[in-house]
Amino acid sequence: MKLADNKATLSFSNGSPSVEMPVYQGNIGPDVIDIRKLYAQTGMFTYDPGFLSTASCQSGITYIDGDKGELLYRGYPIEQLATNVDYLDTCHLLLKGELPNESERTDFHKLVTNHTMVNEQMQFFLRGFRRDAHPMAVLTGLVGALSAFYHDSTDINNPEHREIAAIRLIAKMPTLVAMAYKYGVGQPFMYPQNDLSYSGNFLRMMFGTPCEEYKVNPVIERAMDRIFILHADHEQNASTSTVRLCGSSGTNPFAAIAAGVACLWGPAHGGANEACLNMLEDIQRQGGVSKVGQFMEQVKDKNSGVKLMGFGHRVYKNYDPRAKLMQETCNEVLEALGLENDPLFKLAKQLEKIALEDDYFVQRKLYPNVDFYSGIVQRAIGIPVNLFTGIFALARTVGWIAQLNEMIGDPEYKIGRPRQLFTGSVKRDVKPLNQR
Ligand code: SDX
Repeated sequence: MKLADNKATLSFSNGSPSVEMPVYQGNIGPDVIDIRKLYAQTGMFTYDPGFLSTASCQSGITYIDGDKGELLYRGYPIEQLATNVDYLDTCHLLLKGELPNESERTDFHKLVTNHTMVNEQMQFFLRGFRRDAHPMAVLTGLVGALSAFYHDSTDINNPEHREIAAIRLIAKMPTLVAMAYKYGVGQPFMYPQNDLSYSGNFLRMMFGTPCEEYKVNPVIERAMDRIFILHADHEQNASTSTVRLCGSSGTNPFAAIAAGVACLWGPAHGGANEACLNMLEDIQRQGGVSKVGQFMEQVKDKNSGVKLMGFGHRVYKNYDPRAKLMQETCNEVLEALGLENDPLFKLAKQLEKIALEDDYFVQRKLYPNVDFYSGIVQRAIGIPVNLFTGIFALARTVGWIAQLNEMIGDPEYKIGRPRQLFTGSVKRDVKPLNQR
């Protein structure tokens, strides 16, 4: 980061001495005020719950311009990546900073393919769960359990360990997600097939059975791959920040990624795709498009606690570019499957139209985000609603690892340890029981 030709001066109305702080600028995006010495100089902390105005790190991986609705992975616009490369190329880009050339691409694809199997013992972890366990509970457990099998790659400060752990996690997430699904439906696990693409292999592990040959549908394969690309990374979102904070203690990469899986599960974050599909199905059950007006009134009534799931974003104050691409993918898949008249897709488009014309949403700059259409296309592919966030976790694993490795590789990194504004009881003495 570069020192800007600007400084920040903090002055106090009570006559305390003012403090000067350096300002740094990135290559694009907002400058930052370096407050690292603030506590030492003033005895005060900054206060920013939810981190609305806080940069937690410097990063060169993903850039979001919320006002323009722009998303770049290592400088490449998401629109170009979603149409010109595949997910494993995107993984190479996020991890290493560049798209692979022909030979790098062949080697990387082969390396990942050769790590897609999990240890045979992993299947016994699943047996501890009820068959109707939520797949995200299963995945959180399985990803954390991986660290028990790879003692040769748990030293996060060893670059070779970080490299092989990254490949293992990217390669094994599809296998684990498919195992969580198969366990839930009571079908046998399918082993990876090395002559299939990353996405084709995932589809076969999900929907194939040992009883017959599984034919990968190229339209669905391409759609799945695009869904993975769109979810691969997204700057310092809640789960990525969780992975960074967890990894900053020096724990192994598998444990840090398991923490990211757990955080992503929340409905305000990656769980929104499942919540959005459930919301659409509820409206459809109550009468569909004719009930949209009534539903929107509920959303605008603060006391209802009802939100339009899949809408709004901390950073995007314009259309989430991923939502546009997801809507296109939705169209393609529904057409390919002869589901053009899918009622939920029609309902979602009606909801979007009404919201984008409604003052409540316009004023608050609430637009569809990545989760608004992703559930509809996943449902059309045959993925159960409770697995949508598992698909998100599968795709985001590469972003989490890239961000974790970037942090560990930053000589300035320290264990993350925020402070607080204490509003509890001041010091007091314990009274004997008969005086309490
Ligand atoms: C993801 O951070 C990332 O990058 C995340 C993500 C990624 O790729 O990692 O992009 C993935 O998590 C996308 C977001 C998925 N979540 C949802 O779709 C859940 C519904 N959305 C909201 O919960 C909300 O929009 C958040 C959590 C996404 C953002 O919340 P903020 O930034 O804290 O904004 P806010 O809650 O303060 O909202 C500002 C105003 C409030 O109204 P007022 O108090 O100003 O009157 O907008 C309202 C909110 O009530 N609002 C909504 C709304 N989202 C915000 N009102 C109705 N429906 C919504 N969806």
